[in-house]
Amino acid sequence: AGFEVITTEQRGAVLLITLNRPQALNALNAQVLEELIAAFADYEADDGLRCAVVTGAGEKAFAAGADIKEMADRPMVDFYTADMFARWQSHVVKAVRKPWIAAVNGFALGGGCEVAMMADFIIASDRAKFGQPEVRLGVPPGMGGTQRLTRAVGKAKAMEMILTGRMIDAQEAERAGLVARVVAPEELLDDALATAATIAAMPPLAVLACKELVNAAFEMPLEQGIVHERRLFQLMTATADKQEGMAAFVEKRPGVFTGR
Ligand code: HXC
Repeated sequence: AGFEVITTEQRGAVLLITLNRPQALNALNAQVLEELIAAFADYEADDGLRCAVVTGAGEKAFAAGADIKEMADRPMVDFYTADMFARWQSHVVKAVRKPWIAAVNGFALGGGCEVAMMADFIIASDRAKFGQPEVRLGVPPGMGGTQRLTRAVGKAKAMEMILTGRMIDAQEAERAGLVARVVAPEELLDDALATAATIAAMPPLAVLACKELVNAAFEMPLEQGIVHERRLFQLMTATADKQEGMAAFVEKRPGVFTGR
């Protein structure tokens, strides 16, 4: 609604968000960030939406990075005072408790790779390419790349990619654990939307708990994480959806969930 550089489309309980600057390979400028923040806020607030998919318009790119033309002549003081990249972490990562999937259709470079890694998981087309080429521009990654890529693929491959700017293809990304699955380009969107619809049909509170708990694995010592998991498990046993889910299993029928 009122967006210029992204589009949003509701498909049942799934929200499809498309980065839509194909002439600039969907480079992430300030307007893209603000529109995405608004789209994610709408998504989070709408009880009718249960899962989201983010993809890139066009054949070539998911997003080829932060917009280099926008950054080229900006002075350091601007970057420091505006602290724009912090808004990705606060408004696109932390503020979004509901699940979302990145459907990576082409280049996911720099900030584009970093946004894909902000998603709960990545489904990639076999034409996807991932990389953190920032070092060539005289800067390190600035939207989480050094942290999330390292956690996803381990130190050796992350260090090699980040120090050299080398891109990896979808197959290498899958072997390294960066992406959940690789599919044919013409199947990518349908596959991601179907996966999102599957998640959207799950008990919504359990979905929130699962996402919170997997993310906690990156923040908490093992013992605390396991206690946290047990507590959320116990909390979920008080929900109507747990009654329904277990009754549906026993009665050999599909469950119908309300998020209560
Ligand atoms: C602005 C970009 C862009 C970007 C591509 N374009 N990437 N504009 N910011 N990140 C524009 C090009 O300028 C060009 O516009 C058009 O998109 C098509 O791109 P081409 O380069 O002509 O396409 P191609 O030759 O096929 O090469 C594709 C590519 C290359 C390999 C993906 O575009 C590329 O290397 N892009 C930059 C990738 C990158 O360095 N990303 C990291 C950015 S920094 P015109 O008008 O000429 O047609 C970052 C981290 C930020 O993300 C945090 C630290 C500051």
